Amino acid sequence: MDGGPLRVGVVGGGLMGSGIAEAAARAGHHVALFEPIESARAAALARIEASTARAVAGGKLDEPARGALLARIDRVEELGALADRELIIEAVSEDTEIKLGVFRELDAIAPADAILASNTSSIPIARLASVVAGPGRVLGLHFFSPVPVMPLIEIVRALETSDETIATAERFAASLGKATIASKDRAGFIVNMLLVPYLCSAARMLEEGFASREDIDAGMKVGCGHPMGPLTLCDFIGVDVVLAIADALHDEFRRPELAAPPLLRRMASAGRLGRKSGRGFYEYS
Ligand code: CAA
Repeated sequence: MDGGPLRVGVVGGGLMGSGIAEAAARAGHHVALFEPIESARAAALARIEASTARAVAGGKLDEPARGALLARIDRVEELGALADRELIIEAVSEDTEIKLGVFRELDAIAPADAILASNTSSIPIARLASVVAGPGRVLGLHFFSPVPVMPLIEIVRALETSDETIATAERFAASLGKATIASKDRAGFIVNMLLVPYLCSAARMLEEGFASREDIDAGMKVGCGHPMGPLTLCDFIGVDVVLAIADALHDEFRRPELAAPPLLRRMASAGRLGRKSGRGFYEYS
């Protein structure tokens, strides 16, 4: 891999996968976005079209560059279409068995020297690498939502990740115009180990009747200059996703203060997942 455009594969056309595909295509890489469900493939395209239209409206992209970006993304329905990829980034749902299944299949179809990355925020990279021949080529590339806008990637080195894999990942992140930070393979990495206990504290504050949702959010937005208050951010990330990360932190470190507040669990059970379900801490039309 010589620093030129890469053949990139993205597995999963959800919010993160389509954002990663957009960011990679914008940087000139050729992207194959694998999504087996037809309606989800259509939704991924609609998301990328809307996001790139926002970029044009904001003066970040012109129309010809937008057209070229869109032309660099192939949406594919067979994982086998990633057989010629140099870098494959998995962004399926945060479920260990599903991700292990993807890595087993990638091991079978991808070139032996392709780099295999996961966008997981909580599943050990070493566990995913354990089902791949040549675990030195597996690492974590953890993006932040919305991917085309947030300029950070956490680069996660697992026990067996090679220096060459890390160096290629750093070149790839730089080509996307993203800053990187290096984390060991621990649940939550750097950002979620700091962010998720904070989000849980806000949910706990609301649960205890300490303050209203609006005042909790205004406290951090207006008082500390955060772009979103913590409860709005929970809704933006997804209550289920925040809960899954909180559970992963608690499982890994076993500290009582990392236990998720019951309110988050009840909200997830009730389907109050935030923006994506129309209701979380707030209501969305
Ligand atoms: N490509 C490039 N730029 C784009 C773009 C695209 N596709 N779409 C929008 N932009 C630009 C806009 O032009 C705008 O630029 P300026 O600031 O220069 O004007 C900027 O991005 C913001 O876009 P919008 O105006 O559309 O949106 P906004 O101002 O309402 O901000 C937000 C929305 C960026 C989401 C902001 O509210 C924010 O930063 N929120 C916090 C998000 C956050 O914390 N994310 C991390 C979540 S944690 C995570 O993801 C990890 C995990 O594991 C849980």
